[in-house]
Amino acid sequence: MSNKTIIANWKMNGSAQLIEELSPQLVAWAKTNPSTKAVICPPFTHINAVKLALFDTDIALGGQDCHEKASGAYTGNVSAEMLVEMGATYVIVGHSERRQYHAETDELVQAKAEAALKSHLIPVVCVGESLEDRDAGRAVAVVTAQAKQSAPTNHQSPSTNHFLLAYEPIWAIGSGRVPSLEDIAEMHSALKAELGQVQVLYGGSVNAANAQEILALDDVDGALVGGASLKAEEFLGILKAGE
Ligand code: PGA
Repeated sequence: MSNKTIIANWKMNGSAQLIEELSPQLVAWAKTNPSTKAVICPPFTHINAVKLALFDTDIALGGQDCHEKASGAYTGNVSAEMLVEMGATYVIVGHSERRQYHAETDELVQAKAEAALKSHLIPVVCVGESLEDRDAGRAVAVVTAQAKQSAPTNHQSPSTNHFLLAYEPIWAIGSGRVPSLEDIAEMHSALKAELGQVQVLYGGSVNAANAQEILALDDVDGALVGGASLKAEEFLGILKAGE
């Protein structure tokens, strides 16, 4: 295994204390010259502190969302350009929690992904089915349609590496439940067949114990990690499983 991308999504968690706890171990890991790419997506307010703590490493930074416009009267929002200015190179868009709690549609997610590209950020476009869709046997159809409508419109253009997809079944997020390896492999290969050679990460209850078998799947190019990214031992275990 090599060249996997492991993204930490801290969600609305984290503090100066957490950064102090996690950083020395991340820095020590980065010094081993790993082939795995690590990306940390803290809340906007903590990006700068993480940047300073991980100074001099190849660990990248990302935002958890961005606005689709470059600037303007949008109280509480942050633009892609602002993330770039903070040192971010990635941004998560269309996470299921944004889709659920902020009513984000595929169309809006696509606009955000395009805004990210315009600012030279790598968008991580999240897609995933509900349990109802999975049980009804339509997960692949639902998720591939969602991906086509949420991915940047020029996704078939020469550089296919300029955005990432994250397949995150909604029912697997924070639940401790993970799809079977066959189901993950099926979805990832369906997404690649639909969208070209895009890299597809898996997310949803990834931990140090299950990371190795998930990351060993051919079409799994990395992981998007929520809860386990807040615990040094777990996250380090996932980073090492990717190598
Ligand atoms: P989880 O979250 O790892 O806590 O399941 C993943 C995500 O929501 O990105």
